[in-house]
Order: sequence, then C-alpha cells, then structure tokens
Amino acid sequence: MVRTIEIRQTGGPEVMQIVDRPVGEPGPGEVRIRHHAIGVNFVDVYFRTGLYPSKLPSGLGAEGAGVVEAVGSGVTHLTVGDRVVYAGGLQGSYSEARVMPALTVCRLPGAITFETGAAMMLKGLTAQYLLKRCPPAEGLHAGDFVLLHAAAGGVGLIMCQWARLLGLQLIGTAGSDAKCELARANGAAHTINYSTEDFAARVKEITGGRGVKVVYDSVGKDTWESSLNCLRPFGLMVSFGSASGPVPPFTPAMLAAKGSIYVTRQTLFTHIATREATQAMADDLCSVVASGDVKIHIAQRHPLADVQQAHRDLEARKTTGCTILTLA
Ligand SMILES: NC(=O)c1ccc[n+]([C@@H]2O[C@H](COP(=O)([O-])OP(=O)(O)OC[C@H]3O[C@@H](n4cnc5c(N)ncnc54)[C@H](OP(=O)(O)O)[C@@H]3O)[C@@H](O)[C@H]2O)c1
Repeated sequence: MVRTIEIRQTGGPEVMQIVDRPVGEPGPGEVRIRHHAIGVNFVDVYFRTGLYPSKLPSGLGAEGAGVVEAVGSGVTHLTVGDRVVYAGGLQGSYSEARVMPALTVCRLPGAITFETGAAMMLKGLTAQYLLKRCPPAEGLHAGDFVLLHAAAGGVGLIMCQWARLLGLQLIGTAGSDAKCELARANGAAHTINYSTEDFAARVKEITGGRGVKVVYDSVGKDTWESSLNCLRPFGLMVSFGSASGPVPPFTPAMLAAKGSIYVTRQTLFTHIATREATQAMADDLCSVVASGDVKIHIAQRHPLADVQQAHRDLEARKTTGCTILTLA
C-alpha cells in the first residue's frame, strides 16, 4: 500500500484527499517508480477543477522523480534501480509510488538531484518546445524580441534563463514588482508589472513601435486581447495555458486585422508523444540544467499531505519558480 492523493469529484483544493492504495505490478510497457520528489504544476489545477476532463475517481499530478522498482515486458530503455524523471503519462504522480507507461520516463543524470528533476521536467520540457519546436514564420534568432507572461513562475523562470542563453530579448510580465525583479535576475531583458502597467503600450515602447515576434501566453482570458496587440506583422501567438480562464472565441478575420498574424494552441503532451522526441527534449533540458546555464528555482516545498496548501498558494499567485511535494 502507498499513500496517494485522490480526487473523487472535481472542485477546490479540498477535493484532494490522501488515501492508501495498492500500487500493483507494471504491465507491458509500464514501470513502477518509487518517488523521491513530485512536481506541482498549474495544469494539475485544471484537472482538479474539471477544466480538463478526467475519469473519476482519479489520481493527480504529471511530474515526478524517483527510482525504478519494477519493469514490465517490452520496456528496453530502463532497468530496476535506475534514477528516473518524467512528465506526462497518466495522472497520478502525487503518490509515494506508482505504475505508469514507460514512454515518457527518462534516466536522470547523476549531476541532477531528485528534487531538481521533479521540479524541472514538465516545466523545462515546456520551455524546450516553446523556444525550439514552435518557431515563428521568419524563425527565431538572437536579438529577437519575445514576450512571456507570468515570467516569475515555474515555466517562466526557466524560459527567462533559456531565452537569454539563446540571445533572445525576452520581455517578461509578472504580477508584482518583486516578481519582475526576480524575472530580470533570471535573464528577462525587460519586465512589465501587468497589474499596474498597460503591457501592450510598454511592449510597443520597448520595441521602438515594432512589436515582438512571438508572444508566449499562458494566462489566457485576461491577457489574450492585449497580447495580440503586441505582435509585429506575421508574428506568432503561442497560447499554452489558461491561468486566468479560457481564451474567448475569435474569427480568422481578426488574424488579418492584427497584421497577418499566426495563432497556435500548444500542449507538451503532443511533443512528448513518442519516446524518441521525449528523450531528445529531455537530453537538451538535462544538458542546460547540469551545466548550470539554467537553474531550477524550487521556491516552495510541501510534504505530500499538504498538497491542498500547495494548490491554494499556486492559484492565489503567491508562488514563484517551482513547487514540489516531498516524501518524508
Ligand atoms: N500547454 C503546455 O504544454 C503547458 C505546459 C506547462 C505549463 N503550461 C501552462 O503554463 C502556465 C505556467 O505553469 P506553471 O505550472 O509554471 O505555473 P506558474 O507560472 O508558476 O503559476 C501561474 C502564474 O500565472 C499567473 N497568473 C496570471 N493570472 C492568474 C490568475 N488569474 N490565477 C492564477 N495565476 C495567474 C501568476 O503569476 P503573476 O502573479 O506573475 O501574474 C501565477 O503565478 C500555466 O498556465 C500552465 O497551465 C502549459
């Protein structure tokens, strides 16, 4: 039996309850992992509230690090005792141990701790694909301006550092002056406190009236309209989250009116649909983390049993960087 977080209905943080469940043996293509640390992500909130559907009762969580305890038939890239890390698979990382598909499970290099691994995988692979696997029509080059919302968050601080490494001029927005300072300390070339400033006007100023090549928008409803006004002609709007609520419907004619812009809605889960792609992206991430070029800021740690508080803080915009759940 292992302690695991379960939801029997969707709703507020209180629907997450700790229960004892048998963990079982891995079937074909699966592994059993004993967790050492677990990542908390905003996407977990979407599953908890029901914005993203799941079959109930359900586990929760899509990121973790630990040790392989058992390997099912057909799994060739992992063996018992491997230190591993993963993002994706089925919901259920909020647990002491679990069985899951091996497809997105990768070996964790010795230079990276379990805690860092658990914090970096889902958010870091997201930064990897945003910067490297969804380029704008004219390509993304050193010196280009890009705009990123929630720049002091989990994905945000990784994006700030990685964008700087690529020579991009990242303009980061955040909800307080302290968060803006943190984003700048992590590589944002410019920051805007979007609680007090008109960010579209400030982006125009910073870019000399031209606008940015790409907007990375995970805030959704509250930032959508102004974000579109930040793009230069043929620019790319990458919508990848809805922290403030879903994006309202729009018509193709709007894309013409804003300067023949492109819009895409991306999800990590398409990018990590194959073992080869997952491994290549993970290798890229592990290399920038192991070298120290991208540091993973774990600003919040909670024991597994305190997961409700971890969600409350995340939703109340009280967090910066990454949040992990620890296992005593
Ligand atoms: N599509 C994908 O592949 C993918 C993968 C991973 C993450 N994501 C998305 O990327 C975003 C960041 O994820 P994360 O786990 O790193 O979370 P996070 O950025 O650490 O936390 C969310 C941040 O969003 C900002 N925010 C703005 N309006 C908000 C509102 N009404 N309620 C709550 N937060 C609000 C807050 O920062 P400020 O206070 O600075 O505004 C908050 O700290 C999330 O939207 C997530 O769903 C998407």
